[in-house]
Amino acid sequence: MLSADKDVTYTFAITVDDKAIGSIGVFRCNNIHFRTAEMGYYIAESYWGKGIGTSAVKQTCRYIFENTDILRIFAEPFACNTASCRILEKAGFQCEGILRKNAIKNEVILDMKMYAMIKED
Ligand SMILES: CC(C)(COP(=O)(O)OP(=O)(O)OC[C@H]1O[C@@H](n2cnc3c(N)ncnc32)[C@H](O)[C@@H]1OP(=O)(O)O)[C@@H](O)C(=O)NCCC(=O)NCCS
Repeated sequence: MLSADKDVTYTFAITVDDKAIGSIGVFRCNNIHFRTAEMGYYIAESYWGKGIGTSAVKQTCRYIFENTDILRIFAEPFACNTASCRILEKAGFQCEGILRKNAIKNEVILDMKMYAMIKED
């Protein structure tokens, strides 16, 4: 990540008392989507349910909209990933729809949700 193009890949460690307990990244798309970026994140399980994920998403989106020309940040959690959907909603993302049968994990076909936040939101 440290050697990635700094105009394409924006990544942060999520820390508690100077210890890395997760990470969050925003990845610029290309071609006609160059002002759109996808966000991904994870928190170590022992730190779940403390508001850390929501805080990380909010802080990262603020940073991206204030410091880059990106107009749209999206995330595609599995529809069954209630915690991830919830933190996006708490951070102000809108659910734009269901991506039906969009992934196969461990041989299970899964729906995903398209969440996005626009710079003006
Ligand atoms: C998704 C993830 C980042 C959430 O982080 P977190 O720090 O626990 O999130 P927060 O504490 O900010 O908020 C979690 C919310 O989800 C809710 N939640 C968690 N599990 C839930 C469940 N099974 N059903 C309903 N709500 C649930 C919590 O109640 C909370 O909402 P509330 O504040 O309204 O009560 C974390 O669970 C994680 O890293 N999961 C594995 C990786 C992953 O799924 N990444 C996202 C891929 S799209």
